[in-house]
Amino acid sequence: MSHILLIIGGGIAAYKSLDLIRQLSKAGHEVTPVMTKSAGEFVTPLSVSALAGRKVHEALFDLTAEAEMGHIQLSRVADLLVVAPATADMMARMAQGRASDLASTLLLATDTPVMIAPAMNVRMWEHPATQRNLATLKGDGIMVVGPEEGEMACGEYGPGRMSEPAAILAAIERALRPDQGPLSGRHVLVTSGPTHEPIDPVRYIANRSSGAQGTAIAEALLRLGARVTFVTGPASAAPPMGADVVKVETAAEMLAAVEAALPADAAIFAAAVADWRVETAQARKIKKQAGALPGLSLAENPDILARVAGMAVGRPELVVGFAAETDEVVSHATAKRARKGCDWILANDVSPETGIMGGTENAVTLITGEGAEDWPRMSKSAVADRLAQRLAEALGAGDGTASGGRI
Ligand code: CTP
Repeated sequence: MSHILLIIGGGIAAYKSLDLIRQLSKAGHEVTPVMTKSAGEFVTPLSVSALAGRKVHEALFDLTAEAEMGHIQLSRVADLLVVAPATADMMARMAQGRASDLASTLLLATDTPVMIAPAMNVRMWEHPATQRNLATLKGDGIMVVGPEEGEMACGEYGPGRMSEPAAILAAIERALRPDQGPLSGRHVLVTSGPTHEPIDPVRYIANRSSGAQGTAIAEALLRLGARVTFVTGPASAAPPMGADVVKVETAAEMLAAVEAALPADAAIFAAAVADWRVETAQARKIKKQAGALPGLSLAENPDILARVAGMAVGRPELVVGFAAETDEVVSHATAKRARKGCDWILANDVSPETGIMGGTENAVTLITGEGAEDWPRMSKSAVADRLAQRLAEALGAGDGTASGGRI
């Protein structure tokens, strides 16, 4: 059981903090709640203390509290300080090291690890000032969970929604046990889902990938303690809780996100990247003209897997690709492994009669430098667990010094 000091900031997302307290308590953690003055505009101290089963701390100068426990002491007895929601103003004050109320004073007066779950309007989140503060806070070693992209209370759409309580709980549990799992301290990059290549503002080229296998792989890696960056195209599967999720649309955006996420110890390319894009996407909807078909001129997309596998400097120790084939699966996949320069390739038969693409099961053959290994048909999450386990063994065996070629 751990002791969490939960600072609730003043934002509409504060209502989710009530659920976070409930989930933390259910998971066996002790929660000491602190509310900023404006948090009280969104949730009542009564509901917070009822859920936490403890008194809420609100004021910097509270004589009773000082007599019981000084505010400095309050932040020191905790194993982790969590700010949820962390508003733009709270982030700014933290970045500046201000001590203008109880919450900011506690955050300044502690050397206990701190995690924030930002929540704010999308423009506020994207503002250079907030991004500057975010960079400062990350530089100070503060852990950040979210925000997620989605519809906002103000009606706008974009990044700024506070992560769901379950995702914050998962991040808290990982932070409390940083040394658990064979992949702890390892960073693994996973690409997932399809890409959408625009033809015009309403049409695009895509494929049937649901993102289910990539999501399952990320979840399996997280269970083994890895830090996971999950770069996903527009997939129907919900992104894995606890990963650093980067949402993209096109192959070009996916490549840029992958490059930005490196370095990584391993990279798994589960995305079904569109091989081609329309050379010049039209800015306006193409109108139908009697008898005349629009001539779409295609251009080849960058091969993200081949780019990363071929990196002369900073190549992940283990690069894993997938090979979606409909015939001569193993021979095509073996050739693909050599052509793309990756260490492992997981080959799967995506013929419609297998029901694999978009389905819940998968039947793969793992092709390594040593040869081909057939895995029985199993759920995508079982494939993911087996792959994650193998990856942990391979990275462990190399003690962080193995080159891609040795694996
Ligand atoms: N891949 C990639 N970037 C691309 C195309 C594919 O990163 N532009 C990755 C996929 O994520 C997968 C692997 O390459 O891990 C193989 O994808 P697949 O579609 O099977 O191979 P292709 O290169 O597209 O070859 P083909 O379509 O001719 O079979």
